[in-house]
Amino acid sequence: MADQKKLFIKTYGCQMNVYDSERMAEALGGSGYVATDSAEDADMILLNTCHIREKAAEKIYSELGRLKELKLNRPDLKIGVAGCVAQAEGAEIMRRQPAVDLVVGPQSYHRLPQMEADIRSGGRALDTDFPAEDKFDHLASRPKAQRGPSAFLTVQEGCDKFCAFCVVPYTRGAEVSRPVARVLDEARDLVARGVREITLLGQNVNAYHGLGPDGLDWGLARLIRELDRVPGLARIRYTTSHPNDMEDDLIAAHGDCAALMPYLHLPVQSGSDRVLKAMNRKHTAADYLRVIARIRAARPDILISGDFIVGFPGETEEDFQATLALVEQVGYGQCYSFKYSERPGTPAAERAQVDEDVKTDRLHRLQALLTQQQTEIQNAMVGRVVNVLFEKPGRMDGQLSGKSDHLHAVHVEAPTDLLGRVVPVRIVAAVRNSLAGVLIGDPDA
Ligand code: 5AD
Ligand code: SF4
Repeated sequence: MADQKKLFIKTYGCQMNVYDSERMAEALGGSGYVATDSAEDADMILLNTCHIREKAAEKIYSELGRLKELKLNRPDLKIGVAGCVAQAEGAEIMRRQPAVDLVVGPQSYHRLPQMEADIRSGGRALDTDFPAEDKFDHLASRPKAQRGPSAFLTVQEGCDKFCAFCVVPYTRGAEVSRPVARVLDEARDLVARGVREITLLGQNVNAYHGLGPDGLDWGLARLIRELDRVPGLARIRYTTSHPNDMEDDLIAAHGDCAALMPYLHLPVQSGSDRVLKAMNRKHTAADYLRVIARIRAARPDILISGDFIVGFPGETEEDFQATLALVEQVGYGQCYSFKYSERPGTPAAERAQVDEDVKTDRLHRLQALLTQQQTEIQNAMVGRVVNVLFEKPGRMDGQLSGKSDHLHAVHVEAPTDLLGRVVPVRIVAAVRNSLAGVLIGDPDA
């Protein structure tokens, strides 16, 4: 048994990075590392980074500048950079920050134990390959430890869509789907470890096409139908999806599968056909609205969330008005909106840019509308009975907090033995970003 060392991982960006950080911690567990939540007493610090917008990427260099100071008193401390900044900038990170010992891209995490051994014996390690082998085959989850009630499970990675603003096809590579049997094994293992809700992850998750046990290609709908039958798995979610991959069977699954939650993150980015074309989205605003209408026909209470970019190169006030009009038509329960950020190597970065002030103004106007919609939908929950999966103690003594089917955060005065259970709750108030509820009756009744 190797000496016990402490590993601190700081995760930026999307949910896939959260999942990857868990896998990296498990992989390094075999090299004698245990997790710590303080950088100060760590033997190795790993930053799992995000490259999606400029701010996210720049943060990494300032964080590395701070971490360098820690190394002055502790020369044995190792510093690593993983994730999409690692993939995109590779050796440039080592050049800009000599304190970095290791740079590892998302497709090479299974090689981390070897890389760790290499840097322990002196030297630096860099791996940003897209290896032929499947990293997940080598990242089998090691410890059979109990897990929290909600977990992520990556089923698909990468993207072939090449939206003109986006780095993902470059940092995460081409679309790859994990075989169905692997996904089902991992899901059953998670359930055996206490998980009740699984969020299937992929950069383009609804383009999933994994090899099925019958030798055929399975789409996401078929995978969800199979997961819907896994005993003990109460809830299934999936993110992130592209409107062009919302196939009939997947839409139908929203009506058929009891465990598939009534929430869908379906980014459109803009409501202007001119901008959508320039973004290379390959759909119009009307196409998107038709998809939403069909999903709502299958599952009337579904809550839609989305992503928007304002100030994409060439976006006029009229284009922006089309975005506001689309938002009005959809009625979003939740949304993420961003100012367009130039990403090196992407087609849109080469084009004439919209003024920063104009972007800021549009972002504020869009967010005002989105917040209003979100608040109205949240307020409409007051008085209703909703199912809540209790995930953790609440902020106040005696409280538990969890998520409703519609992914609203709910806090309730409840005994701790309800942790990990799905319980009906009456919503009594809407407070800023969460709902307050009370237990009704016996959860076993
Ligand atoms: N600038 C701003 N936002 C971006 N996104 C992706 N690339 C960029 C960019 N260059 C947003 C999109 C995507 C979300 C994950 O991040 O809205 O759906
Ligand atoms: Fe990026 Fe999503 Fe477009 Fe793929 S579909 S390029 S991940 S925004």
